[in-house]
Amino acid sequence: MTREITNPGERKLAVVSGRAHPKLAEEIAKELGHDLLPTSAYTFANGETYVRYEESVRGADAFVIQSHPAPINEWLMEQLIMIDALKRASARSITVVAPFYPYARQDKKHKGREPISARLVADLYKTAGADRMMTVDLHTSQIQGYFDGPMDHLFAIPVLADYIKTRVADPEKVTVVSPDTGRVRVAEHWADLLGGAPLAFVHKTRDINVPNQAVSKTVVGDVEGRSCVLIDDMIDTGGTIAGAVKVLKDKGAKEVIIAATHAVFSDPAVERLSGCGASEVVVTNTLPVPEEKRFDNLTVLSIAPLLARAIREVFDEGSVTEMFNEG
Ligand code: R5P
Repeated sequence: MTREITNPGERKLAVVSGRAHPKLAEEIAKELGHDLLPTSAYTFANGETYVRYEESVRGADAFVIQSHPAPINEWLMEQLIMIDALKRASARSITVVAPFYPYARQDKKHKGREPISARLVADLYKTAGADRMMTVDLHTSQIQGYFDGPMDHLFAIPVLADYIKTRVADPEKVTVVSPDTGRVRVAEHWADLLGGAPLAFVHKTRDINVPNQAVSKTVVGDVEGRSCVLIDDMIDTGGTIAGAVKVLKDKGAKEVIIAATHAVFSDPAVERLSGCGASEVVVTNTLPVPEEKRFDNLTVLSIAPLLARAIREVFDEGSVTEMFNEG
């Protein structure tokens, strides 16, 4: 006896979300025009996480959206458990959507006997059952190679630059500033998008024995009387960026607009950013920015349309590269 199989070639999309930033997942789902899969998740008294999908995911191409604000280890573990549940429930493919890659700053050994935690995170995702990854503005591009499988590295620059263009008074007098030498390549891309603006960078030193301690020393490049667009991948405690604003102002910058992808905003970031003298601080919502961390000259742009489009391209086997006009 044969059993009829209906729509044998039909593909099934499952978009699931962890509990770290449900608003972003809801926005992505809305952009996709596809509901989030109903999911139960709770934390036991001893801190263990429980997850269960309330509908079948058998044969589905699943996208596991989780953001990684503090407490980052908890949200990472929850995402790993969600991947494990999908694997054991026979999902066809599992894509990690981690808009802010956890532990990205620990991408190499500065000294002997240190871990490479960014690599460990990739191994954890793989071991849990992930087939591919999607993330936004990695701290360093080489992290793409840490995950043994496809990694779609998305860029927030089109979202940020389109907005910044509307904020600078005189486009002829813009200088793009990198807060350290490590981000000069990204600054070049910014400069192209802002019509060939000149570049400057801040010379920063760091005490590698003390976390979140950087000293901005001086600026190389022409900033006097100019509108400076100061870019970074993330703002954590705000020390780097506030220090850079001070150096730029000391050198005669007319105004400083900050553009950063990931608003980590650990204390005392809000205090530093709101009092640093920047005319505007522009970030995206790869991480949640709760009400108590919002301040007057802060603008939060949504990364959801970009992520939704990338999910659609992956599901439809289209091109993520072409989203960024690279051909
Ligand atoms: C450093 O290399 C990063 O790109 C950021 O500039 C840094 O991690 C931001 O940290 P904080 O805001 O604590 O200075």
